[in-house]
Amino acid sequence: MADVPEHVERNEAYWDDQAHDYVADGRRNWESEEPTWGVFSVPESEVGMLPKEIEGRDAIELGCGTGYVSAWLARRGARPVGIDNSEAQLATARTFQREFGLDFPLLKGNAEEVPYSDGSFDIAISEYGASIWCDPYRWIPEAARLLRPGGELVFLVGSILLTLCGRDDGNEPARDELLRPLFGMHQVEWPDEPSIEFHLPQGKMIDLLRDCGLSVEQLIEVRPPDDATTRYPHVDLDWARRYPVEEIWRARKLRVS
Ligand SMILES: C[S@@+](CC[C@H](N)C(=O)[O-])C[C@H]1O[C@@H](n2cnc3c(N)ncnc32)[C@H](O)[C@@H]1O
Repeated sequence: MADVPEHVERNEAYWDDQAHDYVADGRRNWESEEPTWGVFSVPESEVGMLPKEIEGRDAIELGCGTGYVSAWLARRGARPVGIDNSEAQLATARTFQREFGLDFPLLKGNAEEVPYSDGSFDIAISEYGASIWCDPYRWIPEAARLLRPGGELVFLVGSILLTLCGRDDGNEPARDELLRPLFGMHQVEWPDEPSIEFHLPQGKMIDLLRDCGLSVEQLIEVRPPDDATTRYPHVDLDWARRYPVEEIWRARKLRVS
């Protein structure tokens, strides 16, 4: 078996440890008919993250966690598959499948190496899954490989601006101060956190998507709704009303003639 990269091992242990803290949010999202996204729970009707065409489509959620994004896709007529490498997160997802009477395949594995053949899916999606915990130079080529021509990659990540301004102590909200360089940003480790995140400058992300045969269709800078609240301390509403906390990227696999 190929060596597992250090970030994959460390993030697996981290998510096994964190999983119990994500059960309540997972249930709230499984219960919700309308998808809501990110740390401020922005309604789908305000942000439009889901692909326009879902019914009858094959979808893969990369880093599915508790599985609610796949559940939203399944309820809209897609055939989702969720992959995650945390057994504890998958256990929560399986519990919710039973509780809500919705079944779809859940795989334990690294989203950078997915055991499906080329062109198996019409949609690849990630909300704070592979999109921040996997190396973009590994997971984005893999997502592109898994998509059929014309298929769509959609992912939500913490914004590059928040990554530049986020405090080392994640319990303190970001301020209007750039704390780290943009150039060279890739692997990001926060002090006292055992996990490893990945963030690319937007220019590098565009280069990577294009190099993988994906055409960038949209970059949505997410804004919190009027009645927004959050349980996450690393950013407050005042900052989030002025700067994007999150970015949603949409890209489509080119059709080759
Ligand atoms: C914040 S959760 C997001 C998932 C989903 N939106 C949710 O909230 O349940 C991040 C997930 O990414 C998963 N993850 C991290 N690294 C991964 C990898 N290399 N392969 C697959 N999943 C991974 C974690 O196990 C975790 O369940």
